[in-house]
Amino acid sequence: MDLQLRGRTALVLGATRGLGLACAEALAAEGVRVLLNGRDAEHGRATAARLPDAQFVGGDVARDGDRRAILDAATRLGSPDIVVTNAGGPPAGLFEETDLSMWRAAFETNIAGPLELVRALLPAMRQRGFGRVLNITSFVAKELYPNMSLSNSVRVGLTGAMGALAREVAHEGITVNGLLPGLMDTGALQRVIRDRMQRTGASEQAVRDAMASSVPARRLGTAADFGPLCAFLASPLAGYITGQNICIDGGLTKNVV
Ligand SMILES: NC(=O)c1ccc[n+]([C@@H]2O[C@H](COP(=O)([O-])OP(=O)(O)OC[C@H]3O[C@@H](n4cnc5c(N)ncnc54)[C@H](OP(=O)(O)O)[C@@H]3O)[C@@H](O)[C@H]2O)c1
Repeated sequence: MDLQLRGRTALVLGATRGLGLACAEALAAEGVRVLLNGRDAEHGRATAARLPDAQFVGGDVARDGDRRAILDAATRLGSPDIVVTNAGGPPAGLFEETDLSMWRAAFETNIAGPLELVRALLPAMRQRGFGRVLNITSFVAKELYPNMSLSNSVRVGLTGAMGALAREVAHEGITVNGLLPGLMDTGALQRVIRDRMQRTGASEQAVRDAMASSVPARRLGTAADFGPLCAFLASPLAGYITGQNICIDGGLTKNVV
């Protein structure tokens, strides 16, 4: 299927590893010019060099000044048709272990970053009559997960804000959707696995096996499972799909809809 994405431009935040990179790769494979973001500049530049038509912009989405630098780079690229919001995700932990500085950091990274960047990019999308906003959040937006106080909260918050935006811009050719990873074998899950090993004393293999067996597909997901949906939802073919939050989770999330 030709996704009709050739010649489009995308800003993919948190795109130098894991699920963000999977999205950048899937878009690049469809002929999209991609601007990749991450904090580690050396790794980011090397990653961009491996993609067909990609550039790197360094910056922490939690920081105001860095967000401005990311936007400047996006404007130089010609203002993106597609923006994928992403970052590393807040640490695992119980509610009582989570102090206010951690809540503030999670808010800046996983809510304020996406909101500020998307808000700044909307006028150009509106002018063009085409825009795609894709937010990488988490399955916990649909079904709470234990020991994930911060993630459970910030995912729900961003989903609410983006759900409102989706309905406000739907008539302008702009769609806004959530990509909700389940238990994917990339950096964020590896950090959760380490946390569980420390709390329970279980081996890495035991934690992995328990996680995999909790998934109806009987395996953890991979980055390769994740990118294709991003490319499809970014395409003109998906123009009537908006305000949705789609799990890529092997059946993990047990919601009726
Ligand atoms: N993997 C899972 O099973 C799973 C499940 C549910 C939800 N999620 C969520 O999905 C998202 C992606 O997860 P992942 O496993 O792909 O993570 P990952 O492998 O750790 O990759 C995170 C990417 O984001 C960049 N990044 C991190 N913090 C950033 C920041 N503040 N500003 C800019 N870039 C930043 C990282 O590069 P630098 O370090 O160089 O900045 C890297 O490129 C996370 O929010 C995670 O919580 C993942």
